Amino acid sequence: MGANYAEIRAYGPYTLFVCIFVAFGGFLFGYDSSNIGGVLSMTNWLSIFGYKHPDGVGCAISGVYEGQTYCLSSANRSLITSLLSIGTFFGALSGAPIADRLGRRGGIMTASAVFAVGAAVQTGVETVPGLIVGRVIAGWGVGLVSMMVPMYQSEAAPPAIRGAIVSFYQLSITIGILVSQLVDLGTEKIHSTASWRIPIGLQMVFAVMLFAGCLFIPESPRFLFKRGENEKGRQALSRMRGQSVDSERVQVEMAEILANLEFEKSLGLATYADCFKSGHNGMLGRTMCGILVQMFQQLTGVNFIFYYGTQFFKQSGVGSPYLITVATGIVNVGMTIPGIYLVEKLGRRKFLIYGAVWMSVCNLIIGVVAVTKAGTTSANQVLVGFNLMFIGAFAATWGPGAWVLISELYPLKLRGKAMSLATASNWFWNWCIAFCVPYITDAQYGNLGSKIAFIWFGTSLCGAVWTYFYVPETKSHSLEQLDKMFEANLKPWQTAAWVPEDSAVLSPASTQVKDHGDVEKRA
Ligand code: BGC
Repeated sequence: MGANYAEIRAYGPYTLFVCIFVAFGGFLFGYDSSNIGGVLSMTNWLSIFGYKHPDGVGCAISGVYEGQTYCLSSANRSLITSLLSIGTFFGALSGAPIADRLGRRGGIMTASAVFAVGAAVQTGVETVPGLIVGRVIAGWGVGLVSMMVPMYQSEAAPPAIRGAIVSFYQLSITIGILVSQLVDLGTEKIHSTASWRIPIGLQMVFAVMLFAGCLFIPESPRFLFKRGENEKGRQALSRMRGQSVDSERVQVEMAEILANLEFEKSLGLATYADCFKSGHNGMLGRTMCGILVQMFQQLTGVNFIFYYGTQFFKQSGVGSPYLITVATGIVNVGMTIPGIYLVEKLGRRKFLIYGAVWMSVCNLIIGVVAVTKAGTTSANQVLVGFNLMFIGAFAATWGPGAWVLISELYPLKLRGKAMSLATASNWFWNWCIAFCVPYITDAQYGNLGSKIAFIWFGTSLCGAVWTYFYVPETKSHSLEQLDKMFEANLKPWQTAAWVPEDSAVLSPASTQVKDHGDVEKRA
């Protein structure tokens, strides 16, 4: 940690502050994806967006408002819930041209503006089509923000704590989920449209805060250099590092980024096709690694608990399912904190492998108990306990891990495109789970119930094996050094031992603070 501390000092506390500030984008992501679940059950909301029903039998969700029962059909429920993921999927894909034209900071600001419009529409409308439009627009904003924030952070963060910094983004997501659960809990009893307009409308405030804050932070220096705006890049770098434009720190870092950029440029244009070429820099493997890590993150089944947990616990006969849902939110936030430490301590590979094994063991136990002891009190206790342990395992490992990895894998030239593909994969699988799970678990279809845990057991185990064979170790090196590592064409399990060659250019990861801002090359 000592070396890390020296590195933080060398990079300047302002870098840290800026990276933690933009993590707030994760809060929008978490809040919006979890908020709708609570809103759909609010009786005033149902009285406006649902339809009158004699007794609520056969409805996906029903509720009584002023003596009348209202119903929401399964079709409308899945449409309203899953539309966010469709917006996010396209939002993530459109992130590449936006990040490359408007910049990373510009992209976060665009995302907050789009998101605010989506939230405003959702707050104002009182019809299902209007709501759908609002969900898609907000989803687009969430998709954009979900790739821009880790991109900005990884381009600004000191290598030694880059994983920890990007994990703050995940921490923000989890806080967003928890806050939305609590706000829903706090407003659901209000006997007017305020019950749902407050939790939805609050999102505009969050979006404006992120937008306004971005006005005061520098653009990613790496983006400015990429655009050829070297002077602006140098100034942004000097602001970030808290050192003068002529300081050795700024000169050295700038030289390394520019040298790498020149080399990338000499290889020609950057197209989507280049993301899938298996040339000297192993781009095909890197792109697929990002796409698959996000797929395996979703296939852990974590969103089964966040999207359908309340119903799942209810059906399993567990008392106070709402409270247990809030408990999952609390464990999710709490366990992300050790994750911030572990991602640097263990390195990306061990971090992901241990987490996947831990999650699969939890799910195996849940599945076995569901088959052998279903319905008993002790079975319910085991079910709740191991579900909480599963969420804890996710929060401490794969939650942050997938975002950290995709923010480190790609060369500057292709970062926008490759990161947007990986992020779109996250949202695609997110949508698949949201859409398909009811068909797998519900009595009238697959009727798997709690036994779905066996699927998550299998997918997490596959995630562990895949990580061993395909995930490189990206910890501690600068993004430019990582490019060199990929060119060395090592097997993923050999990468942890890779040491960057001593280059002519002094790199950020190979420097130490001697005294207030001075840098010294390591022997
Ligand atoms: C995932 C989300 C999930 C959240 C839970 C994120 O990393 O991408 O799908 O809901 O973690 O904390």
